[in-house]
Amino acid sequence: MKSTSKPLSKNPHLIQWVKKMAALCQPASIHWIDGSQKEYDALCAAMVKGGTFIKLNQKKWPGCYLARSDASDVARVEDRTFICSHSKEAAGPTNNWVNPYEMKKTLRGLFSGCMQGRTMYVLPFSMGPLDSPMAQIGVQLTDSPYAVVNMRIMARIGKPVFELIDKDKKRVVPCVHSVGAPLKKGQKDVAWPCNKEKYIVHFPETREIWSYGSGYGGNALLGKKCFALRIASAMARDEGWMAEHMLILGVENPQGQKTYVAAAFPSACGKTNFAMMIPPPAFAKKGWKVWTVGDDIAWIKPDANGRLRAINPEAGFFGVAPGTGDHTNPNAMKSLAKNTIFTNVALTDDGGVWWEGMTDTPPAHAIDWQGHDWTPALGKEKGAKAAHPNARFTAPAKQCPTMDSEWENPEGVPIHAIVFGGRRATTMPLVYQAFNWSSGVYVGATMGSEMTAAAAGTIGKVRRDPMAMLPFCGYDMGEYFAHWLRVGEKLESPPRMFLVNWFRKGSDGRFLWPGYTENMRVLQWVVDRVHGRVPAGTTVAGLVPRLGDLNLSGLAIDPLQVRAALEVDEAEWVDEVKLQGEHFAKLAATMPPELVRQREALRARLSNRSIEAPDMRVPAVP
Ligand code: OXD
Ligand code: MN
Repeated sequence: MKSTSKPLSKNPHLIQWVKKMAALCQPASIHWIDGSQKEYDALCAAMVKGGTFIKLNQKKWPGCYLARSDASDVARVEDRTFICSHSKEAAGPTNNWVNPYEMKKTLRGLFSGCMQGRTMYVLPFSMGPLDSPMAQIGVQLTDSPYAVVNMRIMARIGKPVFELIDKDKKRVVPCVHSVGAPLKKGQKDVAWPCNKEKYIVHFPETREIWSYGSGYGGNALLGKKCFALRIASAMARDEGWMAEHMLILGVENPQGQKTYVAAAFPSACGKTNFAMMIPPPAFAKKGWKVWTVGDDIAWIKPDANGRLRAINPEAGFFGVAPGTGDHTNPNAMKSLAKNTIFTNVALTDDGGVWWEGMTDTPPAHAIDWQGHDWTPALGKEKGAKAAHPNARFTAPAKQCPTMDSEWENPEGVPIHAIVFGGRRATTMPLVYQAFNWSSGVYVGATMGSEMTAAAAGTIGKVRRDPMAMLPFCGYDMGEYFAHWLRVGEKLESPPRMFLVNWFRKGSDGRFLWPGYTENMRVLQWVVDRVHGRVPAGTTVAGLVPRLGDLNLSGLAIDPLQVRAALEVDEAEWVDEVKLQGEHFAKLAATMPPELVRQREALRARLSNRSIEAPDMRVPAVP
């Protein structure tokens, strides 16, 4: 080995593990990450020199860089993601499973010599504020400086985390990551090293993560999906808390009362936009505000008073760039205006960035995400995209103008409402409230989203994505539902539960609801329901706003259209409940009886049979 920077920890287990992994991966050098700005700048400068980063026009985009990935390494790879529990049953039918001993053997083969010619970075990180009792610690060994600098934005990293490790108070989750592209002596590196063979592997019992072959996003920034969702969900089950794919926001009403909402939507359904929502003028004028706590992940725990509290374990946003603009999400645009790493967006002639949906008028010329010339004409005539549809910005959360004053509260924020959502052209009303916690768990367990945008008048195929956790649950889905039910039993004041659907279409194929900022109107109803300020109509599905209960002031919309958006059409629900049954059949082995009973109750309501009515009591939130 050419060099090893001074170990920044005295923890003998950590030092021993680093030595063991270095012997396996055979890096040319080892660099212990201190997390300083100086170190970050030096890593970025080295990546500019090596061609991985392009430094953007610093006058317009201070502190910003652009990276272009290999064309084969542009997204999470669900089919190469493994949950290697002790048994296949423990991973459940929705996860890829390989026997952990076999997988370890495969990984040892792949990792043997995989870092030759590269530096192995020892990157300590905390998911959650350093002083939070809910935070968890990991150490990622990686040969990707790109992963290191992104992780510095997405998590708390460096010396303070080593100090916590040295105090030996918390268990450390070991994470090993390699792009899988060793360099022979004298071999010139490429801008985006990766391997066509990819393995994103989780060992829930031993709480380990091994990731091989990809440098992109969730495959490489191991604190995010791998740790904060897949491993954390298994830890949470064992320890009585919840790791969820949820944004967290705070709604402040004109009286200054804040109500916190956690919301689970599948990927690419507008979580970041919802988390950073700006109320429409009629609301803003009266003093309504929306505050952001997080846009992707929530760690939720019952407190001593039987109420749920949540932290955002992340420190940044890894947001999808296309579709983000001043009209759709001005707060995201302000968040990414400086100190941001862009990946796979287009480079403009003035050294800036652009992507589809950023501005109404595209630049006359740009370099696309693959480094080729792009013009609006190419976009129009050939459908060529300037930015990859999964192009990303990695931006510090603290730059978001609407970050909540409590976003780093070590105890988290109280959760008053849980909202599920998806993209459904039919059936699902704009909003409805579940009758109680169990029926809310049923709503989350059956939620789905259309996989492709439905063409006018046609219906896209619905992919069931329970609690938006299908790609992220680190254990069996039926057990996961049972865990939700168990947590609910312990709560004195459970949050109210809702489902929203911004994407319902009319018979003409057009969206019935304008969405974006106007979703505030739905949020107000949710908040009013939480505080018992507004009655609701009862339907077979749940409780819905009566037309007059939704605040439509200042919105030019035909009330009949709103009524259509809110409708619970029983004929559609008869089909829906059948499809929900097919989904449950796939998870039958461990499906909690309570959810089967919930489905039966729904079927009974639909056929007017009298079976035991669901528990309609909704305890008050203090
Ligand atoms: C994400 C995702 O990147 O859900 O947040 O895919
Ligand atoms: Mn996500």
